[in-house]
Amino acid sequence: MILDGKKISLEIQDEIAAEVLKIKSSGKKIPHLAAILVGNDGASETYVGAKVKACEKAGFHSSLFRMPAAITENELLNKIIELNNDPNIDGFIVQLPLPSHISSQKVIETISPEKDVDGFHPVNVGRMVLNLPSYLPATPFGIIQLMKRYNIETTGKSCVVIGRSQIVGTPMSILLARNSYPGNCTVTLAHSKTKNLNEICKSSDIIIAALGKPEFLNANMVKDGAVVIDVGITRVPAQNSKSGFKLLGDVKFDEVVEKCSFITPVPGGVGPMTIASLLMNTLKANRKEIY
Ligand code: GUN
Repeated sequence: MILDGKKISLEIQDEIAAEVLKIKSSGKKIPHLAAILVGNDGASETYVGAKVKACEKAGFHSSLFRMPAAITENELLNKIIELNNDPNIDGFIVQLPLPSHISSQKVIETISPEKDVDGFHPVNVGRMVLNLPSYLPATPFGIIQLMKRYNIETTGKSCVVIGRSQIVGTPMSILLARNSYPGNCTVTLAHSKTKNLNEICKSSDIIIAALGKPEFLNANMVKDGAVVIDVGITRVPAQNSKSGFKLLGDVKFDEVVEKCSFITPVPGGVGPMTIASLLMNTLKANRKEIY
């Protein structure tokens, strides 16, 4: 079965819009998400544009702050402090990657954990590891939601997460190992130094491909009935597309699909779910559900 991330994301966004109507009619403050975009990176423009559009559709307030690529680190940190102290803004994100003269880590640590709806601040990461209420990072949270909505069994399953990035692989491995649903998997976190990756994949019930190598996972690496989640989104040039590029996942979809019980497509799988995650986190921020 193909997991329809686009459909589920829209369902969640509709549910959130219904919640916003209730908030409005009770006279309470409407959720407000802000985003800071530094420079003019094409992919970042697209992602932030999609986030702002989704906010508007759900009935949230949204603010987009555009900063020039040449902004100093201090100027950016001051903007973050301003948003931390703005009672109108429930949560905000600073779109990554940032220009190389700015430390992303410093930026992340300057965001108040209470407003860190990306879930990147060490306080939120620590709370996630401890299984305390926290904002979960958008991609792993989206995958968890997708598994939940399709009732995918995870308890006692073996799972390999390929790729140990801070924002996808590492948190994904923790969430799937937690004592909850989805969770209770026996997780292997594989990375560039892993030996016998083919064998590990072949023996896994669930494979999360998040290494950023287009079409890396082939049918020989997948056992019959496996669940395959493809987090890859590499842009490659394509002559006959309007945008001039197409998106490739980390999975050879056409051959792997034959073996899977569930698989996510690219595009239309994990990607759209990240938007739903961000809105869910912003709603939580608005309701002060975490802090
Ligand atoms: N760049 C790629 N993914 C993300 C994300 O989830 N949040 C932010 N802020 N930047 C990103």
